[in-house]
Amino acid sequence: MLEEKRKRVKELTEILEKANYEYYVLADPTLTDQEFDKYMRELEELENEYPELASPTSPTKRVGGEVIDKFQKIRHSIPMLSLPDVFNEDEIREFDERIRKAGFEPEYVCELKIDGLSGSFHYEDGELVTGATRGDGVVGEDITHNVKTIRSLPLRLKENIDIEVRGEIYMPRKVLSKLNQERAELDLPLFQNCRNAAAGSIRQLDSKIAAGRGLDTWIYHLPNPEDYGIKTHYEALEFMKNLGFKVNPANRLVKDIDGILKFIDEYAEKRSSLTYDIDGVVIKVNDLEMQDALGFTSKHPRWAIAYKFPAEEVLTKLTDIIFTVGRTGRITPNAVLEPVIVMGSTIKRATLHNEDYVLEKGLKIGDIVSIRKAGDVIPEVVEAKIERRTGNEKDFIMIKNCPICGSELSKKKGQVDYFCMNPKCPARHIEGLIHFCSRKAMNIDGLGERIVEDFFNLGFIKTIPDIYHLEIHKKDLQELEGYGKKSIENLLEAIETSKKNSLERLLFGLGIEGIGDKTALVLARHFKTLDALMSQTEEDLKSLKDIGPILAHNIVSYFQYVDNQELIHTLKELGLNMNFLGSGEKYHELITDKRFVVTGTISFMGRDEIEGVIESYGGHASGSVSSKTNVVIVGEKPGSKADKARELGIEIWDEGRLYSLFEELGEV
Ligand code: IVH
Repeated sequence: MLEEKRKRVKELTEILEKANYEYYVLADPTLTDQEFDKYMRELEELENEYPELASPTSPTKRVGGEVIDKFQKIRHSIPMLSLPDVFNEDEIREFDERIRKAGFEPEYVCELKIDGLSGSFHYEDGELVTGATRGDGVVGEDITHNVKTIRSLPLRLKENIDIEVRGEIYMPRKVLSKLNQERAELDLPLFQNCRNAAAGSIRQLDSKIAAGRGLDTWIYHLPNPEDYGIKTHYEALEFMKNLGFKVNPANRLVKDIDGILKFIDEYAEKRSSLTYDIDGVVIKVNDLEMQDALGFTSKHPRWAIAYKFPAEEVLTKLTDIIFTVGRTGRITPNAVLEPVIVMGSTIKRATLHNEDYVLEKGLKIGDIVSIRKAGDVIPEVVEAKIERRTGNEKDFIMIKNCPICGSELSKKKGQVDYFCMNPKCPARHIEGLIHFCSRKAMNIDGLGERIVEDFFNLGFIKTIPDIYHLEIHKKDLQELEGYGKKSIENLLEAIETSKKNSLERLLFGLGIEGIGDKTALVLARHFKTLDALMSQTEEDLKSLKDIGPILAHNIVSYFQYVDNQELIHTLKELGLNMNFLGSGEKYHELITDKRFVVTGTISFMGRDEIEGVIESYGGHASGSVSSKTNVVIVGEKPGSKADKARELGIEIWDEGRLYSLFEELGEV
């Protein structure tokens, strides 16, 4: 009996997945909607009655229903790299010449650059097991529950193989305009473009929401082609298509640069009539052996580029110039524009950077100005159309007082920016709080810009320590409209977890002027503890390779300020970690999770620094060689450790090997 039911479940699954494939991948349905619904109902009923027959990749999962309470992290087995952008024919020619100079005669595959977000999809024995976002390229987020609702992505492949494929998750244009219409009726904020809408939809905890968002896929990358005996990228695309993936029919194999340019011209023209957004053309070397030989830099493959379509320019009116105060007190003039659509997004504001920038462009309030936007680049005011002036335009006048707290602004000699110097200025606080919680700083999931603003305005968070006191307001928060019980619990957990962050995150989060995430990492790696950093003089700091006199001055003055010392003291008492934990988020297959021993002198870098770099990639450095050691780095005049490594058959790197790896990683 059960066997019969199992057989029927299998039959129904096959019918429904085939129908899905025909409808969503081939756009050529053979089943009517009524027939589809009938089979789907039958399968649902069977699964309800015999839950043991309900597979995690059943077509019934397409409608969503699975709700998760937070996104798990997934480490990509091979990093998901991005492509270097090029903007004109010369740069495409340079790319081609570079490859030819390396002794190759390349053919290329031209593809459309889809404006969505990239995803990685794993199949085992032909069944979809996980879907992940790109994240920072090394670690992404598990979005399996939502990915299963994307109808063009097969839940089962045509062959029962293990495979990972990568591609773009996107929202078709028509789906976005319908979604925005619905949102306008409900008075919800509109999505600015297809990419934002796709990204917002895939990051839903409740897969029912994602299921209703009409997401789609184009699959364009096979990370392990050698596992399937595939020799060219074009073959890989065919292979993935034959497995049931949606592969873009526009992809084209071309012989040379003329073929590339023709493809670009053709799609620059066809672009507006496509049913989805593209922002350029991706050009990939076809031969996979050639790709391997060309290799990667730390950020990009050397065998592919992304040509970005030129920025679109439109005219609009500059109705006002208003001023905002950043977290360091910097005052920025902003253009307020009559809303215009450029490249699919509505532009109402654009930064004007500083007083000099506005004066150089000679902008007047009331001017007709041209606006430019390229892909995801921030919109920019190009110039005022002088010939359109009516005489009613008003001159731009730089303000003298902070627009928020009224304090007098100051401008340092030789610099262009004005600053509000009042450390208690509310505007500085809110921006500073948003920065503190942001992804590259303390990375507190659930404390995004809007929520920090809400909590600030409601009086729950006025200062950084208030974040760590939010627990006291748990009840009040859970009663707030729009914040469920569970989401507040998750938030409090994320806040607690952030206490364990490595020092560089805290250091970056403090918002010391000029200290970006990279400099924060350099400082944390070098000084190991915040106390050690705080006791340095400007001279000490300047002796570090990456720290110039301005940064050294900013760091010392920040820690001299009593309010800041008190802040650090309070955070320490609240239990925040103030030490470098050596577990940066960087990844390299030869370093991450591997155990290293350094022996002898390496000429280009001190041992501490080498160990710091290893640790920042998640490797471990130790003082003695054992059978657990993976690599021994042997410099000039090594000790007995080198002999021991040889005895144990452990891999040995000489200075040259280490240098070439560090050079590739941009660490020397
Ligand atoms: S190939 C190693 N192909 O553009 C190869 N990317 O910076 C990785 N994208 O992150 C990507 N269309 O999100 C590739 N046909 C296409 C693409 C494409 C869009 C996105 C992708 C990637 C970014 C490149």
